[in-house]
Amino acid sequence: MCGIVGYIGTRQAYSVLIKGLSRLEYRGYDSAGVALINKYKDLNIYKVKGKVVDLERESENKDISGCIGIGHTRWATHGEPNTVNAHPHCSQSGKLALVHNGIIENYVTLKAKLESKGYHFKSETDTEVLVQLIDYVMEKHHLELMPAVLVAMDKVEGAYAIAIIEKDRPEEIVVAKKSSPLVIGVGDNNEYFLASDATPIVEYTDKVVYLKDGEVASMSPKSGLKIENLDNVTISPEIKKVTMDIGQLEKQGFPHFMLKEIYDQPKRITDCMRGRVNPKTLDVVLSAVTDHKERLLNAKRIIIVACGTSWHAGLIGKRLLERFCKIPTEVAYASEFRYSHSPIDKDVLVIAISQSGETADTLAAVQMAREKGAFIYGICNAIGSSIARHTDTGSYIHVGPEIGVASTKAFTGQVTVLIMLALVLAKEKGTMSRESYEEIVKELLLIPERMQKMLEVDKQIKPLSKEFTFAHHFIYMGRGFGYPVALEGALKLKEISYIHAEGYPAAEMKHGPIALIDNEMPVVIIATRTCLYDKVVSNIQEIKARKGRIIAIVTEGDTVVKNIADVTIEIPTLPPCLEPLIATIPLQLLAYHVAVCKGLNVDQPRNLAKSVTVE
Ligand code: M6R
Repeated sequence: MCGIVGYIGTRQAYSVLIKGLSRLEYRGYDSAGVALINKYKDLNIYKVKGKVVDLERESENKDISGCIGIGHTRWATHGEPNTVNAHPHCSQSGKLALVHNGIIENYVTLKAKLESKGYHFKSETDTEVLVQLIDYVMEKHHLELMPAVLVAMDKVEGAYAIAIIEKDRPEEIVVAKKSSPLVIGVGDNNEYFLASDATPIVEYTDKVVYLKDGEVASMSPKSGLKIENLDNVTISPEIKKVTMDIGQLEKQGFPHFMLKEIYDQPKRITDCMRGRVNPKTLDVVLSAVTDHKERLLNAKRIIIVACGTSWHAGLIGKRLLERFCKIPTEVAYASEFRYSHSPIDKDVLVIAISQSGETADTLAAVQMAREKGAFIYGICNAIGSSIARHTDTGSYIHVGPEIGVASTKAFTGQVTVLIMLALVLAKEKGTMSRESYEEIVKELLLIPERMQKMLEVDKQIKPLSKEFTFAHHFIYMGRGFGYPVALEGALKLKEISYIHAEGYPAAEMKHGPIALIDNEMPVVIIATRTCLYDKVVSNIQEIKARKGRIIAIVTEGDTVVKNIADVTIEIPTLPPCLEPLIATIPLQLLAYHVAVCKGLNVDQPRNLAKSVTVE
């Protein structure tokens, strides 16, 4: 988590940094800060507890001039969110300012050593150790900034993406990376940008360099871009082109990114299927499968690794892969999998799902499985992200940048890719009849249209959500494909409305959770005709008998559940495997409107960050 930015060139750095930090705020918003060097070589640091707008207020009427600067938006790990712990951190000598994303694992040892050399620390952060260490190395070995960073970072354990500027040499920014993302933007007029992802960079240049682990770079309008690794080997920069529709980084008239991203789904799912699902031949093609057919088809076991919403998409993937392809599939939380003793070998296919492509646990799980010989397939959204680069192959979901912390369009994009993957593998393995395959493909092609129609339910959900503003708990239930949808609905509600919500397989209720039901407990239940309907109807009766308030997602034309539930929301008749793509939409909208009614910050819920780059 945390976002870092930097700029060096001929523009005034401040506005580039502020705009960049606003784009990276999804990574954390506990505090924000910038460091700038003006033409008199004054190092000005402004930082605040709070958001980028608070930082702008704090810097009003202050000297914000300078063509070199770095900035940071924080998700607190070491030390509470306050101004002292906010980045940039300054060295004791007052010469260096540094921003950091990541966690320094050996900071206690390093700090003790530096204290014994006379360094005093102001903050509780692990980051301050870095700036003092680099300062110490520069002094002790009479080194310039970049060589000092190379020496210092060799002593550091943990994850970092850092940017450092030196008060007396405003001609250079030095950056270093290990296990946290860092992108360098190469502008046309000897100017350089840096950021945790490409979103702050794309409006200035489409030329980027993704720094690799163990690399240190110097960005200087005078001497250009130089990269070395920690073994002091010079690396020639590999410049890549990024294209991004900047409009997607704006709210475009919506009050929140989350609502915009919910409404974006019909268009984004069309993008996700473009060039992959042929409406004429009804064939589905994924280049990753075409290129690695043998390895994929030989998989004897599949393990899906992911976190949060992506893990819920994985649960749907399991059901698809087992049903269509007859391959035993497990779904593991990446954080558990990486420390498990699950036997992994070359016969295992690991599917890593991640919107950001930067989730630390998913990345570590990928690396662990790869070392053991598994073949790794990535399903990511962020192009060029770490997970996308560390997998053997994969398919992007192509839903565009997702900015709201609560994942919405990425979930439906991940499910769409998993459906396509299961269909392609089933066809290749011959485990599905052509008739069933075509039936699903035809329906899949209609999904964007059906999503558009489903969004009309907003009119029903908005007034309904007011009734639940004061609820303290919610239960979500479903079976089969409806169970991951229930889990996802519960996660959406809890993360943005702070209402405690639990998702259960409907039949599990009577094994304990039913004790929670009373007339104050809202129960959202996926009760479509395809998901063991009669059994779910019985579960609904059991809840009704205990006076629970039932909101049911039903298949259009349903009359049975309508007579029992307090509220019913209709979805069209669909093959069960496609229902999650539509049934999720009302649950996203319910969570959104409840949070709005509670007056909460929907896009930036407390304690969360979009990209979880710490373990
Ligand atoms: O970027 P990833 O998909 O790897 O992120 C995984 C989770 O952190 C993420 O899905 C999280 O649960 C979302 N905030 C859910 O809305």
